[in-house]
Amino acid sequence: MRRLVAQTRLHPADLVLPAFVREGLAQPRPITSMPGVEQHTRDSLRRAAAAAAEAGVGGIMLFGVPEVRDAVGSQATDPGGILNVAIADVVAEVGDALVVQADLCLDEFTDHGHCGVLTPSGVVDNDATLDRYARMAVAQADAGAHLVGLSGMMDGQTAVVRDALDGAGHTDVSVLAYAAKYASAFYGPFREAVESQLAGDRRTYQMDAANRREALREVAIDVDEGADVVMVKPAMSYLDVLADVAATSTVPVWAYQVSGEYAMIEAAAAHGWITRRGAITESVLSITRAGADAVLTYWATELAGWLAEER
Ligand code: PBG
Repeated sequence: MRRLVAQTRLHPADLVLPAFVREGLAQPRPITSMPGVEQHTRDSLRRAAAAAAEAGVGGIMLFGVPEVRDAVGSQATDPGGILNVAIADVVAEVGDALVVQADLCLDEFTDHGHCGVLTPSGVVDNDATLDRYARMAVAQADAGAHLVGLSGMMDGQTAVVRDALDGAGHTDVSVLAYAAKYASAFYGPFREAVESQLAGDRRTYQMDAANRREALREVAIDVDEGADVVMVKPAMSYLDVLADVAATSTVPVWAYQVSGEYAMIEAAAAHGWITRRGAITESVLSITRAGADAVLTYWATELAGWLAEER
């Protein structure tokens, strides 16, 4: 009876696996603050993508960690940069069995760790960054990305990237706008995962946790600029925002269960303070119940396996 009347259901196809690939690694390297998640080598990333596809996961979101960084994030737009070669690797491995997605942001590639390029006085230069994003989008699409994920929170990024993709003939590449991305303490473990160089914070371009209404404005602007999907991020501390966006958006709404959400559950479970499988399932169910059409979660492949078992 409970199964028959359940209002919300999880499905592997609605899960997206975020994955990290590190240039120059001989072996995958564990991420201490995210037990069970690792920095992949190019080979181990291919295997992780194949396993996700086998489990029926809907997509993979790739993050690159370069060996060398500079002020403008040159490796992000270099066809030989780690993220771009990894996109091609994964597409070669899984074809279109997964929607192959790339994080479109400069923070992994800059030596100062900000999501954009800086003015001489050291603040993020919104419009100069847009030019870098346009090139990055084309490099990712040239490498075979099916979707680019704009996580930098620069004003105007969706329109600029859509134009650049169309201009380069990539009319079929989709744009995911991290429309409502909050300046969050829950990104902590991600900083370790990408070896972030950031000193300070991103409060001049990411949203304030205090604001709910602003999310609707951000979403409306991104949809207007051509977003195919909008994202709310983080997920669990922003379920009210997610519900608002889901109720009004005219495009699909995804949510990102971020590194800190992952770390909290893993840490408590490791102590035996919560039941791991139950807590993971309930957390993703709650995000889905709040209105997410798909969820980015580091548990995507494992959770998909459980869902298959339960069927
Ligand atoms: C930016 C980006 C971040 C995350 C995804 N894309 C970091 C940030 O904005 O500070 C965080 C994801 C996570 O914490 O799991 N490239």
